[in-house]
Amino acid sequence: MEFVNNSRDAAPDLRVNIGGSLTIANPVMTASGTFGYAREFEQLMNLHRLGAVIVKGISLYPRQGNPPPRIVETPCGMLNAIGLQNVGVERFIAEKMVYLAGLNIPVIVNILGDSLDEYREITEKLAGVEGVAGLEVNISCPNVKKGGVAFGTDPAMAMAVTKAVKERADVPVMVKLSPNVSDITVMAKSVEDGGADAISLINTLIGMAVDVKTRKPVLGNIIGGLSGPAIKPIALRMVYQVAGCVSVPVIGIGGIENSEDALEFLLAGASAVQIGTASFVNPRASEEVVEGISAYVTAEKLPSVRSLIGALDVGLIEI
Ligand SMILES: Cc1cc2nc3c(=O)[nH]c(=O)nc-3n(C[C@H](O)[C@H](O)[C@H](O)COP(=O)(O)O)c2cc1C
Repeated sequence: MEFVNNSRDAAPDLRVNIGGSLTIANPVMTASGTFGYAREFEQLMNLHRLGAVIVKGISLYPRQGNPPPRIVETPCGMLNAIGLQNVGVERFIAEKMVYLAGLNIPVIVNILGDSLDEYREITEKLAGVEGVAGLEVNISCPNVKKGGVAFGTDPAMAMAVTKAVKERADVPVMVKLSPNVSDITVMAKSVEDGGADAISLINTLIGMAVDVKTRKPVLGNIIGGLSGPAIKPIALRMVYQVAGCVSVPVIGIGGIENSEDALEFLLAGASAVQIGTASFVNPRASEEVVEGISAYVTAEKLPSVRSLIGALDVGLIEI
């Protein structure tokens, strides 16, 4: 599947492959959970400038999410404990996909589950749905059948989820890694061995905030996920490590606010990037990142954006 360049100017060539048969017009996507179902942003920016839209995580059944407060600002970032609130896959297909399919830009559906069966079933329900160009598998969820250990922290479980989704998916499958592990490359290799067409990283880092006046946790859920510029150096390091050990495309996520941040991820080995928390600060952030990358490719007279992927000059290390 190849999507045409929707940008105002036909040149430069910003197309990238993000796994299997999926090639998108430019390397900028929206990160799951930070862009709703895209319609929320239609008055705020030109959606057609995006390489792809990744929608809020969808589960088999609707979820209410965690008790409030669910978001708190932190130095250089934010903590969220939304608890994967969503309308469930049936309402998503009936109510949200019609609009999304009409956009004529690639839509990647982020999926989650509490058991392998749930991942299988949701993949089956999304197979053949018009407008779905790819799946992104969130493996940061606890496996209720295996005592609540997150799929994303156990290499064997991460591989099993990947296989379960791949067996049933009719579109390319990207697996999204959790950074809350001791060796990210072990997780990356497991999901690649499980058949992932691409790997996206990172999801949020687990953190917490305390209110000294009330002597209580700030978040209703006590702990939450840290995102924003605070996590960018960690994300960049993990993308660099993962890109060096897998052969499928790697998608960089974490604290990207502008085109320079995005270019750093491409040089470190990412084929594309996702813009998350930055969209809360500036709803046009993702569009501006596309414009900035385009200007850089033109100014540097590059044949295409692809020549930047993994082009980081680490020099020669003498032994
Ligand atoms: C409010 C909020 C909701 C999120 N919801 C999801 C989700 O449903 N599924 C998912 O895979 N990631 C979710 N994420 C993680 C982001 O997609 C992204 O991986 C993370 O925020 C790091 O990128 P950033 O620093 O650019 O925000 C969420 C993040 C935030 C801030």
